Amino acid sequence: MFYFGVDYYPEHWPEERWPEDARLMAEAGFNVVRLAEFAWVKMEPHDGQYDFTWLDRAIEVLAARGIKVILGTPTASPPAWLMAKYPDLYLVRDDGTPWTYGNRREYCPNNPTYHDYTRRIVTAMAEHYAGHPAVIGWQIDNEFGDRCYCPLCNRAFQDWLRRRYGTLDNLNEKWGTIFWGHTYSEWSQIPLPLTTCRSANPGLWLDFYRFASDSYVKYQQMQIDILRHMCPGHVITHNLMGFKYDKINYFDLAKGLDVVSWDNYPRTQWSMQAAVDPSTAAIAADTMRGLKGKNIWVMEQQAGPGGWEVVSVMPRPGELRLWAYQSIAHGADAIIFFRWRTARFGTEEYWHGLLYHDGRPTRRYDEVKRMGTEIKRAGDVIVGSTIKARAAIIHSYDSRFAFQIQPNNPKFSYPGHVQHVYRALFRRNIPVDMVSPTADLSRYKLVAAPALHIVTAEIADNLRRYVEQGGTLILTPRSGVKDEANAVVNAPLPGLLADLCGMTVEEYDSLPEGVTQPLQFTIPARPDQVARVWYDVLAPQGAQVIARYTQDYYKGKPAITLNTYGKGRVLYVGVFGNDPLYETFMSWLLASVGVEGVLSAPEGVEVAERWQGNRRLLFVLNHTEQAQDVVLPGRYTNLLNGQSGLTGTVTLAGRDVLILAEES
Ligand code: GLA
Ligand code: ZN
Repeated sequence: MFYFGVDYYPEHWPEERWPEDARLMAEAGFNVVRLAEFAWVKMEPHDGQYDFTWLDRAIEVLAARGIKVILGTPTASPPAWLMAKYPDLYLVRDDGTPWTYGNRREYCPNNPTYHDYTRRIVTAMAEHYAGHPAVIGWQIDNEFGDRCYCPLCNRAFQDWLRRRYGTLDNLNEKWGTIFWGHTYSEWSQIPLPLTTCRSANPGLWLDFYRFASDSYVKYQQMQIDILRHMCPGHVITHNLMGFKYDKINYFDLAKGLDVVSWDNYPRTQWSMQAAVDPSTAAIAADTMRGLKGKNIWVMEQQAGPGGWEVVSVMPRPGELRLWAYQSIAHGADAIIFFRWRTARFGTEEYWHGLLYHDGRPTRRYDEVKRMGTEIKRAGDVIVGSTIKARAAIIHSYDSRFAFQIQPNNPKFSYPGHVQHVYRALFRRNIPVDMVSPTADLSRYKLVAAPALHIVTAEIADNLRRYVEQGGTLILTPRSGVKDEANAVVNAPLPGLLADLCGMTVEEYDSLPEGVTQPLQFTIPARPDQVARVWYDVLAPQGAQVIARYTQDYYKGKPAITLNTYGKGRVLYVGVFGNDPLYETFMSWLLASVGVEGVLSAPEGVEVAERWQGNRRLLFVLNHTEQAQDVVLPGRYTNLLNGQSGLTGTVTLAGRDVLILAEES
C-alpha cells in the first residue's frame, strides 16, 4: 500500500476536536499518521508512571476512519522532571558548556541513565502497542544529531579508541602525536577536540567525529533491539535529514533500520530564496535512497511555510504537490506531510501545517487533498517500483567530516561541490544513485567520486576493480590526499589513486574565490566555464591532456587529464569549477559512455523514471511557473487522472506534474 498521511499531535488540541480532524484527514485521502514523537511527558507524567489512555483514544478515533499509525519513540524530547533529576544528562557543546532545558535534543547519547529511561519508555510503549491492529510501525527518536563533548563522552571516546587502535603506540603513530609533542602515555590523557584547544590534531578530531556518529548509531540500535523483539511485525524507521545533514554517517545509521525515511523541506526560514533549486531535494532523496539501496519514505513532507522566529516564503500554489511527487519520483513509497494543524503555541507556532491555527483547512489542504485522490488511483502502480540508475556519485562521510575539520580553502564546500557535480547529471534527467565508497559499482557506466579525500586500500581497490572492468570514473581535486587516520599520504597525490589516473599532482594553488580562469579544452567546452578555488598542476605519466590552464605561472600546464586503465577510463579534473565547467566534461563523457537522460525536456522540467517490473513510469515535473511543452516518445496514460492516448507534444501548466505509463 502507498502510505499517504500526516504528522499529527492530538495532545495539542481538545479531545472534542479529534473526530473532526480524523474526518478531514480521511477526506484528504490519508491512510496513515505519525503520533506521539514528542509526547514523553504525556506518556510518563511522573517517573515510572505510564499513561497511554489518551493515546489509545486518539488512535481509536483515527482507526475508526481507517487510518493506520506510526508511533514515534519520544526520546528526542525528555520531560522536565527527568532533566531536573539528573543534570548530567545534558549534551555538552564543543565550547564545553551544556545545553539548557527548553528546546529538544538536549541529551547526551552516551549517558547510561538516559539509556535506562529510554529502555523503560520504549519497552512500555512496545508492550502496550505490540498487538494493536492500527499500529504499523515505529519512528525512533527524531532527527538524531549534535555531537556531545561531555566528560562521559570523553571516557567513552577513549574506550572507542582503545578498541580501534589496540595500543597507544599504534594510536600515537597513526595520529602523528609527536607533532607539538602530544604523545599520549595513558588512554585517559586523550582529550576531546573542544574549541578551547583551538585547532586539534586532525587524526584525533576525525576519530571523534566518527565516535560521535557511532554513539547515535548505538543509541538507536538499543531502541531497535527492544522494538524488534517485542513488535516483530512492525516496520522500524528513523527520520533522517537528507543530504544537508553532516554529523552522522547515515550509511551506518541506516543499517539497523527496515526503511529509511527523511524530512523534506524545500522552503525554510534558513534558506529564504525566492526560487527553489530542484536539485537540492533531488540529491537529498537520492542520498537517502542510496543508504540502503532501496525505496524510502518521507516522514515529513513540507505542508506550509516553515518558521521558528521568522517565517519562510509561502510555498506557491502547486509547489506542495510538485515537491511531494518529486519525492516519489526519487523513490518514496510513502508521503507524510508535516504537520496537520498549525500549532498555536510553542517554538514552532510559525511552522505551518495543512490547517490554519484556528483549525480551518487552507488552500494547501485542498492541494494535498487533490493529490490524495490521485494517489488513490496511482498509488498501487507506483508503490514498490524501483529506480535503475546508470550513473553514481560516491558520497563519503569520512571525507565530509575531514573537510569540516580542514576545508582546505575557505570557500570550499564538500556538499556544495558534490551537488555541483550532481547537478550536471540532474539537468540532463539522468537517474543517479548516491553510494558509499565501498559500494558495488559494477552496474554503473559512469561513477563520479568528487573530492574523495580519505582513501583506504579497500576503497582504492574498489575503484580500481570498477575501472579495470570497463567503468568510467571521474575524480576531482583533493582526492586520495588522506589516509584513514586523516594524515597526508606518504606518496605523490592523488596517493593510492595515482596509478589509476596515470598522472601525479606536481603542485597545487589555493586561491581566493574572486580569482577564476577559463580552461583551454581539447573537447567542446561551454564558453562560460571557469576554474575556481583550487588548481592542481598535473604531470601526466601516460594520461592524455583534456584541458590546460590559461593564466598565472602554470599557464599551459595540464588541469584535466584522461587515462585509460584496464578496460576503463579515469578523468581527473584538477580544479573546482562553476556549473558550466562540470557540464562541459560531463556532457562529453556521457556521450562517450552512452548514458542518456530519461527524456530531454526544457530547462526547469525534470523527468525521472521508476520501473514496475518491465513497465516504465515517467514522472514529468514542471518546476517552473510557466507552461512547458514536452515531446513524448510514445503513447502514454496519465496515471494521475486516467487520461489515455497522450502522445506527441503535451503541455504542462506551471508547477504541474504528469505520471505516465507507456501503453502497449
Ligand atoms: C524537523 C522535525 C519536526 C519539526 C520540523 C520543522 O524536521 O522533525 O519535528 O521540528 O523539523 O521544524
Ligand atoms: Zn556526552
